[in-house]
Amino acid sequence: MDYLEIKGGKKLSGSVTISGAKNAALPIIAATILSDKKVTLTNLPNVVDIRTLLKLLTMLGGEVDHNKTIANINNGTITSTKAVYEIVSQMRASILVLGPLLARFGECEVSLPGGCAIGQRPIDLHLKALESMGATIEIKGGYVRAEAKDGLKGAKIIFDKITVGGTENIVMAAALAHGTTTIINAAKEPEVEQLCQMIADAGVKIEGIGTNELSIEGTCGKPLNFKTVEIIPDRIEAGTYLCAGAITNSSITLNRVNHGHIRASIDKLESMGCTFELEDDSITIHPSETIKPVSLITIEYPGFPTDMQAQFMALAVMAKGESLIEERLFENRFMHVSELNRLGADIWLKGSTAAVKGVDTLYGADVMATDLRASSALVLAALVAEGTTNVRRIYHLDRGYDDLEGKLSKLGADIVRKKEV
Ligand code: UD1
Repeated sequence: MDYLEIKGGKKLSGSVTISGAKNAALPIIAATILSDKKVTLTNLPNVVDIRTLLKLLTMLGGEVDHNKTIANINNGTITSTKAVYEIVSQMRASILVLGPLLARFGECEVSLPGGCAIGQRPIDLHLKALESMGATIEIKGGYVRAEAKDGLKGAKIIFDKITVGGTENIVMAAALAHGTTTIINAAKEPEVEQLCQMIADAGVKIEGIGTNELSIEGTCGKPLNFKTVEIIPDRIEAGTYLCAGAITNSSITLNRVNHGHIRASIDKLESMGCTFELEDDSITIHPSETIKPVSLITIEYPGFPTDMQAQFMALAVMAKGESLIEERLFENRFMHVSELNRLGADIWLKGSTAAVKGVDTLYGADVMATDLRASSALVLAALVAEGTTNVRRIYHLDRGYDDLEGKLSKLGADIVRKKEV
């Protein structure tokens, strides 16, 4: 198993190019099931989760030609509609094939993803919405079996809770349904927006793209013909590198970013004392000598993203004063707290809020990555810890960060990937 050996204390400089967004690419790859023709995707991040979902498509019988950032996918050859446990258990987002498989083939079986490190993460809202669209759903043997032999029907869906994956699944299902589907309380994350845009560009009439209310006129079962899709820049990867600049007190430039998508992170970093220079699709962070404490609450877009909570906690550890961080989206997303405390942080948890007392120094230690974003928080802390930090179980990082150690090394960090003996 690989681990990262990081020697802290190096200043960073120069620039880094942000990769395509994993969370945009995953639903877009799933959406290719709605087509029986070749689809080209560009600017894919070179990460394990993308390879996992592409592997699932080949297991279904699709043809995939993938080379790092580009994939040509032909799902005209699909022969199976069963997404097996071996894949879904590796990556929860595989549940995104449920909506498109059901919409195109009238039946499918998808393994239940189960809980994960950051919480229970049920899919009840996805299933309830598909039932309102006429699907018969049965849970048996760990699988969701869904059927809609005469096709899905447009319906009015009101989500009790804003769900990114749920909205994506229903948008994809609605694209081939009979009639119009309205989704109230839809997620409006940029990744959902890009999925809607891709489907709209294929000729499906969608109103309300980028808002909490979507209306989708289905094609009555006719498969779509997609244009080439260039995946949007990863706002979480960008936010993570901004935190790397801030925590190491370094000016660095990020290329290929969408400023609008990272507004929440920029605002919080400004309140912590950082300043920014924005150009077309690049941003330079000028850190502040003294990091001010922060108060933040994770919430749906355009609010502060839960996927940036751990990285900001690492930054708050080095602030002068006490920060308060409240996690509202997931019930167990504080696994990084005890690992940060092993490096010398002073974080105290009460329910869904973490009180972070800033410290002057962190000290390198062995730490364990527990989930994707928690892992990047440990890497950030290690960049400033005195001595050597070994971040173990980095398969979590490999799921979602494209060449993290390569990009950080290029910026001047002392970080190497090593193999456990
Ligand atoms: C997506 C992102 C993830 C991000 C999250 C919230 C991908 C691949 N993953 O995850 O990185 O942290 O959005 O921004 O895009 N819920 C239910 N029932 C459901 C569905 C969700 O109760 O049927 C709950 C979840 O447990 C959670 C909340 O709703 O508490 C939001 O989850 P959701 O937006 O669905 O997250 P994901 O799509 O899984």
